[in-house]
Amino acid sequence: MLGWLTGLGLFGSGILSAISNFVFIKPRATYGQPQRFSIGKPDDFPPGVRATLGARGLCVVREGNKIAALSTTCTHLGCIVGVSDSGFACPCHGSRFDQDGTVTGGPAPRPLPWYKVTLAPNGELEVDKDIEITPGSYLSL
Ligand code: FES
Repeated sequence: MLGWLTGLGLFGSGILSAISNFVFIKPRATYGQPQRFSIGKPDDFPPGVRATLGARGLCVVREGNKIAALSTTCTHLGCIVGVSDSGFACPCHGSRFDQDGTVTGGPAPRPLPWYKVTLAPNGELEVDKDIEITPGSYLSL
């Protein structure tokens, strides 16, 4: 009986050891949101619109049949800029950007990045925030 209980105890500690090894060996890395994602159909962005997608940190700009996506993350310290009459304005330290994201004032050291926009086979627009493109490069619809 005692031998049987001892064997059961050893077996149980082996299982606990295996579980703790799995928990502690498992990488603790976390991965953010996918950087390539759909933002909807072109018709969701009528000509003349400058729509901010807050959760995505983007402003989608459509001029006629051309569409683009600019970052709304300030290049100074990373606050989210808002759309203003003249372009974009950062509420944190006063940086200003024109409609194309070019710095017009404040401490921001670089313009707002433009990201690659493609039209997927399913007809939806996809933005890839891993690929910056030349400012002023629109996708023609
Ligand atoms: S974070 Fe935008 S001006 Fe400082």
